[in-house]
Amino acid sequence: MRISIVGTGYVGLVSGICLSFQGHDVICVDKKAEIVNEINNSISPIYEPKLDDMLNQVISEKKLYACTDINWAIENTDVTIVAVGTPFKNNAIDLTYIKECAREIGTALAEKTSYHTVCIKSTVVPGTTDTIVREIIEEASHKQVGSFGLAMNPEFLREGCAVDDFMMPDRIVIGAYDDLSFDSIAAIYRGVFDAPVIKTNLRTAEMIKYTSNSFLANLISFSNDISNICESIGGIDAIDVFDGLIMDKRIVVKNDDKQLYPGLVQYLKPGCGFGGSCFPKDVKALLTHAKANTYDAVSLEAVLAINELQPLKMVEKLESLIGDLLGKKIAVLGIAFKAETDDIRESPAIKIIHILLDKGALVTACDPEALRNAEKELKNDRFSLKENYVETLRDAEGALLVTAWESYKCIQPIEFRNLMKNAVLIDGRRVFDKNAMESAGVKYTGIGLK
Ligand code: UGA
Repeated sequence: MRISIVGTGYVGLVSGICLSFQGHDVICVDKKAEIVNEINNSISPIYEPKLDDMLNQVISEKKLYACTDINWAIENTDVTIVAVGTPFKNNAIDLTYIKECAREIGTALAEKTSYHTVCIKSTVVPGTTDTIVREIIEEASHKQVGSFGLAMNPEFLREGCAVDDFMMPDRIVIGAYDDLSFDSIAAIYRGVFDAPVIKTNLRTAEMIKYTSNSFLANLISFSNDISNICESIGGIDAIDVFDGLIMDKRIVVKNDDKQLYPGLVQYLKPGCGFGGSCFPKDVKALLTHAKANTYDAVSLEAVLAINELQPLKMVEKLESLIGDLLGKKIAVLGIAFKAETDDIRESPAIKIIHILLDKGALVTACDPEALRNAEKELKNDRFSLKENYVETLRDAEGALLVTAWESYKCIQPIEFRNLMKNAVLIDGRRVFDKNAMESAGVKYTGIGLK
């Protein structure tokens, strides 16, 4: 099929590369000429495993082309996927880019004679596609929906494994205005992607996306809530509690002599909180949208409140072991919001570093991928970025593990002991073995431990 994708951010670019890799002819549209040039020169503007090689291949096979001209892209394709950003501003989702894009698409559709389907992939609060988007396109195109197709097809891509998530989806959700709209989006996936297709209306598709992210964020905050209760009682390791919980036969599946756990159990673990461009923004947006529709979503409020406190707990634990932080050198391992990404948006590490600096500490930090982004975000005379964990830990009086990168999980207890001036480690992801650390002379504690 001939598909145009507007917005070459994370979702748009991964979708464009994967769809062209599967044989579709894709035109990616972005207002920024330098990003368009990079893509056409096989340079990915974002870091994501597997993406560089695939981009190289689809550009050399001429299956993907990037441009700034939305009219030309719409004229030369049958479906347009909208993947522009929907940031969270002034306590609500900001639809500026969506509205701008809908207007441009409408204007282009006014000139087009053949049937064209517009599909929203950006995360938008329930009701957006069948009201705001629809009305703007209708007004700008002087056409009624039905003469053009309208669909909503949310994405479920995790940063760090977005390519695999796209190529091997667990479900494909298509909310559609009518059957014709549905058919044109289903055709993109048919025969190529092996996954159940959920056919539904526009606002249900939008709600499925928010519910999925809120559910996962809820599991994380639930785990941290339980973990905080364990800490307040004392003598309970929250990890042991979750190990006990997941043996419930409604969670674990016994297959012969093997025990199979659903992927969800990864989210049932104490930690220093969730971040990224999705969970915090989506939970806040759904909460605000519920309020605007006269419903107080108390569970979502609690999810956010618990998450807000977790980074602070890391610093409190450090202070309980080494006292006042004024003038002390503290090492932070990991800046990205999770491993396998360079994304630092809403990262607990950023919050932790700011708290440490506010308390007068001298902070060093490292990250295998996020240094470039961190450099722009963190500017302070008492803060320095280091190339590796060795330089970060050297002479530190306390260390905090915030992002669970494989290369940090492999740091040996003796390295903490030998590199640091005062070997004190706070484990925000519970990746290290307490006994091994203590045997090597490292003072160790972590979230969920007291
Ligand atoms: C999330 C969803 O998992 C995707 O399905 C969704 O498509 C995406 O948002 C989106 O809306 O675009 P992502 O933000 O990449 O994907 O990250 P996850 O791997 O789900 O992790 C989210 C956050 O939870 C991270 O900060 C991670 O460190 C944290 N987390 C995860 C924990 O704090 N504890 C855990 O046990 C697991």
